[in-house]
Amino acid sequence: DREIDLSRGDVITSAEAPCEVAEQFEAELVWMDNEQGFAGRQYHFQLATSRANASISTIKSKYNINTFEALSAKSLGLNDIATVTLSLDHAIAFEAYETNKTLGSFVLIDRYTNATVAAGMLKFSLRRASNIHRQAESVNRAGRERLAGHKGHVVWLTGLSGSGKSTIANRATEALHQRGIRTYILDGDNIRHGLSKDLGFTDADRIENIRRIGEVAKLMLDAGIVVITAFISPFRAERDLVRRLFDPRDFDEVFVSASLEAAEARDPKGLYKKARAGELPNFTGIDSDYEVPGAPELLLDTENQSVSENTARLVDMIQHRIDSI
Ligand code: ADX
Repeated sequence: DREIDLSRGDVITSAEAPCEVAEQFEAELVWMDNEQGFAGRQYHFQLATSRANASISTIKSKYNINTFEALSAKSLGLNDIATVTLSLDHAIAFEAYETNKTLGSFVLIDRYTNATVAAGMLKFSLRRASNIHRQAESVNRAGRERLAGHKGHVVWLTGLSGSGKSTIANRATEALHQRGIRTYILDGDNIRHGLSKDLGFTDADRIENIRRIGEVAKLMLDAGIVVITAFISPFRAERDLVRRLFDPRDFDEVFVSASLEAAEARDPKGLYKKARAGELPNFTGIDSDYEVPGAPELLLDTENQSVSENTARLVDMIQHRIDSI
């Protein structure tokens, strides 16, 4: 009796018994990819025709399929069956798989390879987010930036251990500080003594480390501060996840580049030596991956350019970004 605007993913249901709408779920899934699945990493989510960005918020348990015993797990391997909680970036219409197979089953798709990495069944929605409301604040970011006289900004340095991230971050904040700009460095070695002291260097722990730092940087940006982060941040997926937390005007990824040979020759903390001796497992560049950034906003080559040259380039970029208040 009327025209309705509908697009892909929309669902028409009866007004008497509408299907539920939610963005957080408990689900059961089977992992189908050779590459491991981790809590915190983002995947494309598809349920019938609706799509969303999803991450596994927790792996509650995985099953030993011979004994049906529930085991705790930090990651999911090929053919693992697990109960997880899923978090989407927006709410979708769904029904529990038990009552509706079409609106209750989903797949997770790798963002880079487009491979289907998991298939699963929604069990029920979690109401965590629906009872948590953002507090309206009368003093906001724009007000804080006016008071400071410059905009906030996030610069995300990534590179091997020993590539020069901390050195450049330090020198750049010195220069900015002298110009009256409010800065803060989030540095791997410091954060790992506090906020992330429960985390080690497995892939799962590094992913969680970077997720936390991204959220902290976001709060600091809101406080109107120029934040420089100095973490190896070895995985493209998490660097992209962090990038998506920000408006493009507020965020730059900077690749602090040095070859493994150069970083290892510098070895400022003697860690490469330990790693080569087998005393430090999962060391980036030795037995843990570093995925080189594809399109960083700035590349600082610390093998062929001096600390001063690289610092100047970084400071110029930041100054340019925060002036326009
Ligand atoms: S990240 O991978 O999660 O981004 P982060 O930058 O926080 O790493 O921590 C790296 C720092 O921890 C290094 O600079 C080094 O001093 C120290 N470290 C100790 N063990 C390792 C390891 N196995 N791999 C890399 N860095 C390590």
